[in-house]
Amino acid sequence: MCLIKINKIEPGMMLAENLKDRNGRFLLPSGASLTARHIKMLKMWGVIEANIEGIIAEDVEDNAISEMDPATIEMAEKMVRGCFRHSNTDHPVTRELFRLCILQKAREMQSDHPRENAEFDDRSEGDAETNEMPELMSTKIDFNKFIQRHILKLPTLPMIFSKINETIVKPNSSANDIGRVISKDTSLSARLLRIVNSAFYGFPSKIDSISRAVTIVGTRQLSSLASGVTVINMFKDVPSDIVDMKSFWKHSIACGVNARIIASYQGIQNTERLFLSGLLHDIGRLILYTYAPDHATYVLAKAKRTNIMLNRVEYEDLDFDHAKIGGLLLKKWKLPVLIEQAVTYHHSPQKSQYPLEPSIVHLADIMANATGIGSSGERFVSPLDLDAWECIGLSTNILDLTIKQADQHIEEIFKFFCSDEN
Ligand SMILES: [Fe+2]
Ligand SMILES: [Fe+2]
Repeated sequence: MCLIKINKIEPGMMLAENLKDRNGRFLLPSGASLTARHIKMLKMWGVIEANIEGIIAEDVEDNAISEMDPATIEMAEKMVRGCFRHSNTDHPVTRELFRLCILQKAREMQSDHPRENAEFDDRSEGDAETNEMPELMSTKIDFNKFIQRHILKLPTLPMIFSKINETIVKPNSSANDIGRVISKDTSLSARLLRIVNSAFYGFPSKIDSISRAVTIVGTRQLSSLASGVTVINMFKDVPSDIVDMKSFWKHSIACGVNARIIASYQGIQNTERLFLSGLLHDIGRLILYTYAPDHATYVLAKAKRTNIMLNRVEYEDLDFDHAKIGGLLLKKWKLPVLIEQAVTYHHSPQKSQYPLEPSIVHLADIMANATGIGSSGERFVSPLDLDAWECIGLSTNILDLTIKQADQHIEEIFKFFCSDEN
């Protein structure tokens, strides 16, 4: 018997032991011969893997690496290794992620449509750059003054958002009441409808009105999506000479999509909260790029020159990092405390009083950087926090499942959130 990933299980395979869901609920007995319907149901229940009778792992698992051209694999490994230079690829989880990224890179190299991401390829050699260091205008930013001057003066979320939240917390609000508030903003409503009708949400029939979306998707979930759309619009005009904004939001959306998928395997009900946390996890960097451009340029150049993680350079040269700034901004915006915690602690999940959601965003961010989808300025994959991995408590098999699932939807979700059309 051996543990087989759900996407490798085929009709006719036989369970080698009783199958339970993540909450210990009995699903199917040992000896059951799996049908296509069973497999579909298991996927819907979030089952990641099952023990199958009479199967050898190598027969069904991904042996794609050995089937590919060795020279391509060697080149892909060289490229990917540069991004993993701060990660311990001897650890089984990071090793699996590293293997999946090599495979993805090799497939990209062989495909006619390689993913466009200059950052990813430029980290390939891993050599420190001998670029000219820009001059730092002053040694450090006074954190308290910076907060007083910028965060406290930042615009609040638009009125529509506080109206949505006010309506949600009223105990007698109906889906129609909430729908009516959101529908007042036609551009927001149109975008939300496009998002909930996308393949990522996979609802069987078309959702044609906001009040219907509230009923089907849920009030808090729709409110999370609405704040994501609103925040992206608020930061549309950040100057792009420091960071490529398209790449920034692509990384953020990749992290949000990964976080939402991991949350669903974890059994978290409001997966949209995790999507929003992932979407906003690096928002503190936009504040730095906008209000401290000289410092931000210096920190980016130093990270590139020394090959040190950007986050560490922020600490060394600013005394604080983007995660702290982002958390303060979300606090000012009165977003739910779990989102604020996930953003504040996505690089140090165990410091949070609620470590699960920061741990999920931490892993989702690592996966977004590892797969090289966009960048918020960081060129490397952060080292995996092993306590965070333990806190999530899922099998290594979720890495492959999440990457494959996310890959199908990131471009589409990016288009819905970031395109200029309303
Ligand atoms: Fe970050
Ligand atoms: Fe990030």
